Amino acid sequence: MDAAVFSQVDDYLVDLFSLQDDVLLRTERSIVEHGMPEHSVSANQGQFLFMLARLCQAQRIVEIGTLGGYSTIWLGRALREQGRLTTIEIEPSFAAVAQENIANAALLDKINVKVGDALTVLAELEEDPTPVDLLFMDADKPNYVAYFNWALKMSRKGTIIVADNVIRGGKVLDASSKDEKVMGVRAYNKMLSENTQVVTSVLPNVGKKEYDGMAISVVK
Ligand code: DHB
Ligand code: MG
Repeated sequence: MDAAVFSQVDDYLVDLFSLQDDVLLRTERSIVEHGMPEHSVSANQGQFLFMLARLCQAQRIVEIGTLGGYSTIWLGRALREQGRLTTIEIEPSFAAVAQENIANAALLDKINVKVGDALTVLAELEEDPTPVDLLFMDADKPNYVAYFNWALKMSRKGTIIVADNVIRGGKVLDASSKDEKVMGVRAYNKMLSENTQVVTSVLPNVGKKEYDGMAISVVK
């Protein structure tokens, strides 16, 4: 099938469901203008994350890999009244762009952007024992299993753990790959397949972005 169709269908759905607004469009533009990697989730994927956050009635969300804050805004908008989101970004210049976008989305009171190494910041977040309702990892793939283990430790029954980019255009099929991103998501998918504490569905995604997918796990 012509890959252009995937993009056109994405556009059709975004238009039909009015999935973009000025805040989100400005966030996408800021990422291009600052020369940041164009790795944000698509609008359709953002809407999906929003729905997952609503399904678990999220009061506490943690995101690893803020980039320009595009998925952060989708998730922040889904929070319950008193809900809070912490998003972790290792690159200070990206975090600064995200901070501006989050301010523009009027979400500064709900979203805390933390700059630093994710495992270090996650350890600090344990000071607050409130269970995490949803964790979205969209960062360095070799650490996905470690991020998952942290989420499990901080979970309640029904916590949702989402990992982006677990298919990588089909590169995930290559068992002999030396690409650390491929090896990272292969290890992650394998771990999920053997883990008895969660139920997992891997959802392949087509659309404007490279053929990829998200792993969605729910804590039993
Ligand atoms: C890459 C990372 C992402 O989060 C993404 O959505 C697409 C690609 C990457 O590092 O290649
Ligand atoms: Mg991603």
